[in-house]
Amino acid sequence: MDRDAMKKAAAEAALDYIEYGDIVGVGTGSTADHFIDALAGIKAKLDGAVASSEASAQRLQQLGIPVLDLNTTGDLRIYVDGTDEATRHLHLIKGGGGALTREKIVAEASEKFVCIADDSKLVDVLGSFPLPVEVIPMAQSLVGRNIVKLGGVPVLRDGFITDNGNIIIDIQGLNIVDPVAMEAELNKIPGVVTNGLFARKPADLLILGGGEGISTLSRK
Ligand code: 5RP
Repeated sequence: MDRDAMKKAAAEAALDYIEYGDIVGVGTGSTADHFIDALAGIKAKLDGAVASSEASAQRLQQLGIPVLDLNTTGDLRIYVDGTDEATRHLHLIKGGGGALTREKIVAEASEKFVCIADDSKLVDVLGSFPLPVEVIPMAQSLVGRNIVKLGGVPVLRDGFITDNGNIIIDIQGLNIVDPVAMEAELNKIPGVVTNGLFARKPADLLILGGGEGISTLSRK
């Protein structure tokens, strides 16, 4: 089975956690796209979805799933999204697709975060995948200098502007042994909108697609 088929299998397994009348928080990326496609098959069950990016909103709408504004829905019961890296503690690095800020907002508003991925995303220590940080453009150099002080190498994501009109700095060379502390430290730098660590509020459930089928990890 190739990686994309594993992502699809994980995405389809997440349907088991959707209930009648849900307004589903929906993530961004290729695994989330598989989830949106699967969700279309049960759209009659749903009251709608809240999207974490313009791209996901467009895909949901094209498939006939109403996209609602988080300001009108209140908190959600469930959020489903992919990840770039995950540990057994369900700490994540997200934002490879640049949607980290809206993803964090929808995840924060949701009671349960179901993370879906192929099993290559499971790691012992976060940081091999460059950690994305969304930054207000005028703070690019300031934030870069502060990242160096934290031991990382800041790399501007060339030609990329987020849905919120900001830039992304990807941090290379981090070995993130304390993801909760690193998440907080980065967010203290003026000009940082947010960073791609989901550690203060990790996922609640991780569904992994692999060669042997589906496995799930839940937070203790
Ligand atoms: C987008 C994300 C994605 O969830 C992450 O990049 C994983 O992407 P994919 O499902 O395509 O492997 O955080 O901002």
